[in-house]
Amino acid sequence: MVPSRTLSPTANLPQENSTMNSASRPVIGIFGAGKSGVAIARLALDAGYTVHVATSGTVEDTDQLLRFVAPGVIAATVRDLLTLADILIIAVPLRRFRELPLHAMAGHIVIDVMNYWPPIDGTLPDFNNAERPSSVIIQEALPDTAQLVKTFNHLGYHQMEDLPRPTGAPDRTALAIAGDDADAVETVARLVDDLGFEPLPAGPLTASDRLEPDGPVFGRQLDAMDMRRILQTDHSEQAA
Ligand SMILES: NC(=O)c1ccc[n+]([C@@H]2O[C@H](COP(=O)([O-])OP(=O)(O)OC[C@H]3O[C@@H](n4cnc5c(N)ncnc54)[C@H](OP(=O)(O)O)[C@@H]3O)[C@@H](O)[C@H]2O)c1
Repeated sequence: MVPSRTLSPTANLPQENSTMNSASRPVIGIFGAGKSGVAIARLALDAGYTVHVATSGTVEDTDQLLRFVAPGVIAATVRDLLTLADILIIAVPLRRFRELPLHAMAGHIVIDVMNYWPPIDGTLPDFNNAERPSSVIIQEALPDTAQLVKTFNHLGYHQMEDLPRPTGAPDRTALAIAGDDADAVETVARLVDDLGFEPLPAGPLTASDRLEPDGPVFGRQLDAMDMRRILQTDHSEQAA
């Protein structure tokens, strides 16, 4: 259950700063209104982004939930997210990601927040003991022109809510960003920065296992210098 927020009279209406920034900032569309989806939605809204969220339920039910947990975030259908948003964020349980309209994500930057978590997901044959990171398998399920970027997955939702700091703050937590397309990684890095984390490019999707639950940065509050050192050490060990 996602913690609630105080209702405001402008609940679920685009806020003034979102509208002001909508011309210069990408619109965010999040699949999933659970713990991680709502945490990211709140941060993006607070940073001035326009944010739409969809669940597998009706838009009315999603709206009712969002009014309670993330006032100002706009409920949408899964289909509408594809036309409303520039950056799509997948924050549904991994076992359900194939329910999303993956083929219609062509041309989008798609952020993969998901982890393979057998206690929640059960055993998923595609992902169980896979020799490739889960994001590589997800990229293969998307059209070629969808640019998948993995980030946000290695912090818990409570960390995402508690740890944001402004750019330049000495105690800023780093978020690793893995992706194959440099422009997409750069765009996502700006989003990560705006949301209060130090963006740290972490190589291609084939190296994104370092961000996964068994990887060296998962769940850890690290600054950029420590995270870079840990990722480099891990890379050297794998290469040896
Ligand atoms: N929890 C964390 O702290 C955290 C942090 C980082 C990453 N993650 C990862 O993020 C993913 C989601 O975790 P979570 O804890 O946020 O899950 P959660 O709290 O269970 O929420 C999942 C959300 O996805 C929605 N959903 C499920 N199937 C859907 C579909 N086909 N279309 C649209 N929406 C759908 C659910 O709503 P309906 O069922 O009503 O559609 C629900 O709103 C997992 O892979 C997890 O490992 C979690």
